[in-house]
Amino acid sequence: MSRKFTFLLFSFISFFTSAQKTLPIIPKPEKVTIGEGFYELNAKTKIVIPAGDAEATAIAENMRLRFLITSGKNLEITNSENSNAIVFKKDESLAKEAYNLKITKGNVEIKAASDQGFFYAYQTLLQLFDSKIYSSSAENSLKLDLPICEISDSPRFAYRGLMLDVGRHYLPVSFIKKYLDLMAMYKFNTFQWHLTEDQGWRIEIKKYPKLTEIGSTRKETPLGHNSENRGDGKPHSGFYTQDEVKEIVAYAASKYINVIPEIEMPGHALAALASYPELGCTGGPYEVKTRWGVEKQVFCPSEKTFTFLEDVLTEVMDLFPSEYLHIGGDECPKDTWKASAFCQDLMKKEGLKDEHELQSYFIKRIDQFVTSKGRRIIGWDEILEGGLSPNATVMSWRGVQGGIEAAKLNHDVIMTPNTYYYIDYYQGDPANEPLAIGGYLPLEKVYSYEPLAEDITEDQKKHILGVQGNLWTEYVATPEKAEYMTFPRALAIAETGWSAPGKNEADFMDRVKRHFSKLKLLGVNYSESIYNIKLEVKPGGTGQLKALLTNEDQGSKIRYTLDGTQVNAQSLIYKSEGITLSSNTQLNAALFNEKNEQYGKPLSDFLMVNKATGLEYKLKSSKSRYTGGSKFALTDGKTGNADNLNTWVGVNGEDLELVLDLGKSTKLTSAGIGFLNAPDSWIMFPKMVSISLSEDGKTFVSPGGAVMKSDNAKKVERININLNGQNARYLKITAENYGMLPEDHPGKGNKAWLFVDEIEVK
Ligand code: ACM
Repeated sequence: MSRKFTFLLFSFISFFTSAQKTLPIIPKPEKVTIGEGFYELNAKTKIVIPAGDAEATAIAENMRLRFLITSGKNLEITNSENSNAIVFKKDESLAKEAYNLKITKGNVEIKAASDQGFFYAYQTLLQLFDSKIYSSSAENSLKLDLPICEISDSPRFAYRGLMLDVGRHYLPVSFIKKYLDLMAMYKFNTFQWHLTEDQGWRIEIKKYPKLTEIGSTRKETPLGHNSENRGDGKPHSGFYTQDEVKEIVAYAASKYINVIPEIEMPGHALAALASYPELGCTGGPYEVKTRWGVEKQVFCPSEKTFTFLEDVLTEVMDLFPSEYLHIGGDECPKDTWKASAFCQDLMKKEGLKDEHELQSYFIKRIDQFVTSKGRRIIGWDEILEGGLSPNATVMSWRGVQGGIEAAKLNHDVIMTPNTYYYIDYYQGDPANEPLAIGGYLPLEKVYSYEPLAEDITEDQKKHILGVQGNLWTEYVATPEKAEYMTFPRALAIAETGWSAPGKNEADFMDRVKRHFSKLKLLGVNYSESIYNIKLEVKPGGTGQLKALLTNEDQGSKIRYTLDGTQVNAQSLIYKSEGITLSSNTQLNAALFNEKNEQYGKPLSDFLMVNKATGLEYKLKSSKSRYTGGSKFALTDGKTGNADNLNTWVGVNGEDLELVLDLGKSTKLTSAGIGFLNAPDSWIMFPKMVSISLSEDGKTFVSPGGAVMKSDNAKKVERININLNGQNARYLKITAENYGMLPEDHPGKGNKAWLFVDEIEVK
C-alpha cells in the first residue's frame, strides 16, 4: 500500500467514527476529545467529594439517588480518593462556572473551582448516560455506561436566562420548580420572574394586601385571539405568598440560578391601580384588565406612587437576594400623563421637555432608590427614551437596536430580541400549531442568533452580558403549553449563551433530536414542530403548480398521496424536484423514519390548479397588513385557512376590486373566489360579488354576480359564476364591503374587514 492510500484510508475511518460518536451534549462544550470504549459504573464505584463541602454533598447525593432509581446501584459517597470512582476535585485555576471532566476506563475525574462548576459537570455527565438516566421510575436495570472522553468547558456569556410571565397566566409553584430543573439541565443561570401585569398582580406584599386581594383576580380571559374581543366569562386568579417566593428563590439557588423579580412600572400597572386607585392619574375606578394589549392607564408619577413603589421594592429586596431588580419600563402610553394637570405641572417644575423625559424622571428616581440599597435596575429598552438612567442595565427586546445603542453608551445589556428570542411566537406553520400570539420563530431561526454580530467595538461588546428567551403567556394558560413553547427552543438559547461562537445547524439539530428522549422521560411536553413538513408552491408553467416539500429531519423520507387517501408506508416517496400538479389536488404527506415508521405531524393541504394559477393580478385597494404573504397570494394554489388570518388577503372598510390578465383571449366556463366570514375577528362576507369580462382590459361586460349574507358563524364560502364558454382575456372581480359592523356586534360602528382567497378560473 502506498503511504498516500494509507493516509486516505485512515482519515476516512476517523471521520466516520467521530461523526457517529458526537456526544449528545447541549449546550455544546468548549472542547471535547472522544476516546474508544466505555467505563461502566458498578456497585463498588464510589462518589468522592471534598470533605466538608456541603454543596458538593448535595450534588453527590442527587447523583446517588439518580443512579439508585435507574440502575438499582447504591453508590457510596466518601471523601477519600479511589479508583473506580467519580472524583470531584477543586481546581482554583479554573474560571467560576468552568469545569473539566475526564472519563477513563476506571475513573471519572471532575475538576472545578466552584460547586457551580461541579454542578455543570454533573449536568454534562448525566447527558452522557443512556437517556433512561432521567427516568423517574425505579427501573433498576440501566447499565451505567459512560463514553471514554475528555471535556473542558466554560460559558461564553455570564448571563444566560429565561423569562416567564406569570402575570397573564398564573402558573403553579410545582411548575416553576420543574422549569428551574430544566433550565439547570441546560446550564441557564438566570430566571426572570415577570410578577406584575395589567392582567394580574402575583406576589404577596404585606404592606399592601389589596394587591393580591383585588389585583390577583381578573373577571375573565380572552377567548381565541385578543382581536376577537371575546371573553371566557371565567375569573382567573392566583398569586405567590412570600413563603412560596422564598421557597422558589432557595430552590433556584440550589441549582445555581439567580431569580430576578420583575415589578412593572410605570406601565403594565392596571392590577395595582385596581387595588389602589389613588396611584393612577385619573383616580379610577379601575379594573384588572380582561383583554391583552397595551393599557393606557399607568402609574401617576406622584409622591404617593413613589412611596408605594419603594415600599413594594423594599419587601421584594428582602425576598430576592439578586443584585438586579427588573423594573419593566416598557410600553408606557403617555395619554394620561398628557391629560393630567399634576403631570404637566411636575414637568414644568422639573424642567422636563416632554412625557418621555417624565418617564425617564420616573425610572431615575427608582434607580436612585434601588442603587441606594446596593442593588441595580434592569429595564426594557424603552428606558433609553428620554435619557437613560445612570446605573441601568438595558434588556433589548424590540430587536437588537436598543441593546446596541445602550452598549454604545457604555451600559450593560441583555439581548432578548423579539426577532429571535420571543418563544411565545409560533414555532411552525400556524395551521399546524396551537394558538400563539403571532410571529414565526422556528427552532433554526432561534438557533441562528449571534449576539455579537453587530458593528460595535470590542469594548462595547463587553457590555453585552448575555442572552435571554422570553415566554409571555397571553396564549399560554397551562404548564403543558408553557413547556411546548419553551422546548426545544430554549436549547438553542442555552447553546448561544454558553457555547463558543460558530454554528453548525445540522449538528445542533442532531443533538436536539437525541434530547427528545430525555425530555420525554422528564415528562416535558416538548414540541416536535421541527418535524413538520413545510409546503412551498411555485407556478409550474401554464395552468400548473409545483409543490415542494421539505422538513428538518435529514434521516427521514416524505411519502405522499394525491388522491385524498391517507398516506401509508407504501405511498409514493417524495423526490426533491417537487410534485407537478395540473388540476385541483388534495395533497397528503407524512414523514417516515429509517424503519419506515410514520412519525411527526402529517400534512394535508388542498391545492387549486386552474387557468388563474400562478398569474399576477392587480388589486385596487389601500395597503393592508393582510397581504396573504405574496403578490401571488390569490393565485398560488393555496386556499385560505379560517384559523390563520395571514393566509388571506384582507381590506378594511373598502370594496375589493381586482383584475386578472390571462395573457390572451381564452374560452371560459366559470370563475370563482373564496370569502371568509369571521365576525369575532371583525371580518364579514361582502354584500355582493360580481365577475365581469373584457378583451381589452377597458370595457368590461358583466355576466354574473351573487349576493352574500353574513351571520355569526366563522365559515368560508366560495362564489362561482358560470361563464358559458365566453371568450375573454381580462377578468374583473369586485366585492362590496359589508360596511359598518352591526349594532349587536362588540365592534359596532367600526368598519368591517373583507377577506378573500384563491381565484379559480376554468
Ligand atoms: C415587552 O415585550 N413588552 C417587553
